[in-house]
Amino acid sequence: MTDDVLVVHGGTPLQGQIRVRGAKNLVSKAMVAALLGETPSVLFDVPRIRDVEVVRGLLELHGVKVSDGADDGEIVMDPTNVESASTDEINVHAGSSRIPILFCGPLLHRLGHAFIPDLGGCHIGPRPIDFHIQALREFGAVVDKTPEGMHLSAPHGLKGAKLELPYPSVGATEQVLLTAVRAEGVTELRNAAIEPEIIDLICVLQKMGAIITVHTDRVIEIQGVPRLHGYQHKPIPDRIEAASWAAAALATKGEIEVLGARQQDMMTFLNVFRSIGGEFQITDDRVARAGVTGAEGGIKFWHPGHELQAVALETDVHPGFMTDWQQPLVVALTQARGLSIMHETVYEQRLGYTDALNQMGATIQVYRDCLGGTPCRFGRRNFKHSAVIAGPSKLHAADLVIPDLRAGFAHLIAALAAEGTSRVYGVDLINRGYEDFEGKLAALGAHVERL
Ligand code: EPU
Repeated sequence: MTDDVLVVHGGTPLQGQIRVRGAKNLVSKAMVAALLGETPSVLFDVPRIRDVEVVRGLLELHGVKVSDGADDGEIVMDPTNVESASTDEINVHAGSSRIPILFCGPLLHRLGHAFIPDLGGCHIGPRPIDFHIQALREFGAVVDKTPEGMHLSAPHGLKGAKLELPYPSVGATEQVLLTAVRAEGVTELRNAAIEPEIIDLICVLQKMGAIITVHTDRVIEIQGVPRLHGYQHKPIPDRIEAASWAAAALATKGEIEVLGARQQDMMTFLNVFRSIGGEFQITDDRVARAGVTGAEGGIKFWHPGHELQAVALETDVHPGFMTDWQQPLVVALTQARGLSIMHETVYEQRLGYTDALNQMGATIQVYRDCLGGTPCRFGRRNFKHSAVIAGPSKLHAADLVIPDLRAGFAHLIAALAAEGTSRVYGVDLINRGYEDFEGKLAALGAHVERL
């Protein structure tokens, strides 16, 4: 445990430039999609993060040759010889990520059967997979849950279906897409998730030969095709990482330019950032102005130099405020004057990290009620899913244990904003979704060191 501790000397504004690469929540799915092709796929700008390693390992176990391409961040996936893997080999990846569930459709198409280990991912609520299983059964898959994992087969092949999700789940929508593209006939999915990462996955699948129509009102129609080929794709940038650094700039009274960040994916975040008093500038247009080829733009975020203002907001599915933006932003909200409200409507237990912020001097109360906005599905189910943040509070150093990925980054920001020296335990978890965060912290002038 000791080499998994970061000592953070807080109180210094973060200042400088860092770069985000392809979004974790698209890259991992695009890698799974490569399994569906009959020829190699190339993905650019892939970040070096743990989730990518897990998917790469699973692809390799199933006979996909994965190699690094010519450019930094380029990977080539050759699925010519897809083969079965033993449950023991697959189980090595049990508990490491949520992505293995998305191998169901592609493996059923390629091999006729699949084994999925117990899932991992962040502990931010029960995270059931009932929508996935229901959808797979409607395509004609036989799903057998055993203590070691889930065995699937498709004795009569997979056939298009009319489906409606009880909630616009990102993962279940991806499950349907990755299964329907090669199922026989047409699939209609109602109440689908339409996050930008999903639209980007649809772009990947279209490049592979799929026929997918995104209608209005969360309806997606997929016309199955008998075969798909490889793709070449530059992924959507990581808008969760970009927002995390933006929140860090605000909380530490600094200025961070996030190269690669894209305005169109972050409009909801930018509106909230501005309402709090944060300043930002879209810097991609300067490329055209300066006529510099190869120069890269992004978004520069900075603290306005005067007091921040409280806001009331709730997390929601796209185009709402992302649940993954919530934790880093709450750290910045501890510095805003007045009462801020954060109503978490996507996950029922994603506010546990506020205890650590309170330990550091924040004043945050969590409630079971739906505060500040429209009632959500957790309101009557006894989950503490609304937070009231009273600010501004002076944060002081503390010893912190990282609970999950996004809350972990929030802990880190809090330690950077606080006066004094904090010890942050379990920081390696942050590598699941933030590429080289220690290198980036160094580039931004943070005073941190490994114990
Ligand atoms: N849900 C069900 N049953 C299901 C599937 C989902 O009840 O079968 C519920 C969940 O419990 C949750 C809600 O539906 O309350 C939304 O879950 P969703 O399926 O949309 O989440 P996910 O696909 O498991 C992805 C991201 C998360 C991100 C959410 C929401 C990946 C690998 N993960 O999770 O990202 O928070 O969508 O946008 O893409 C992260 O990056 O740190 C992270 C947690």
